[in-house]
Amino acid sequence: MPLRTTIIAASMFCVLLATAISAEEGPTPEQRAVTATENRQAVFKLLGVNMGPIVGMARGSVPFDAEVAERNARRIAMLSTMIPERFAAMDTRGFDVTTEALPIIWDNPDDFAEKAKALHDAAITFAELAATGEQATTLGGLRAFGGACGNCHDTYRVDDDD
Ligand code: HEC
Repeated sequence: MPLRTTIIAASMFCVLLATAISAEEGPTPEQRAVTATENRQAVFKLLGVNMGPIVGMARGSVPFDAEVAERNARRIAMLSTMIPERFAAMDTRGFDVTTEALPIIWDNPDDFAEKAKALHDAAITFAELAATGEQATTLGGLRAFGGACGNCHDTYRVDDDD
């Protein structure tokens, strides 16, 4: 091999080796805590994305669309099952993460999971109302549905404007 090629090959090998070593070391606990926090917040962001149009329909800022209401409610039901899972994935208490999750979540996993299940059931109930296609019937069920979000926030999220 010409010298130049040898040098290039050798330096590429070093890069590969360094990558392999760092992959083997894996993320630090601090990095894992940041990722765990971002992942659970991603679930909540998607809950918000799906709830937004439904709330808009109730306020009159979004035209009523029963199909969208039902579809989004079913998505929320599905996403709600990830809430307890993402908190069980890692207890991030004591790590330097930006979060609105209250520490008591990890002391009360059963109650926390119950509140997520209450959201699941409320979302299914709302989806069934939306399946009737009737505006008044559908939007009449929004208070109970949205209440399942607020009920958990009241206990387990830092108190802000909700
Ligand atoms: C079982 C408890 C629980 C339920 C049910 C729940 N939330 Fe939350 N929510 C939380 C907690 C805890 C946080 C703070 C997460 C964090 O910062 O680590 C949060 C944060 C959020 C955030 C902020 C996400 C971000 O970081 O940008 C939004 C938006 C949100 N929730 C919307 C909703 C909506 C909409 C519903 C109902 C469809 C809902 N949540 C139901 C517990 C819950």
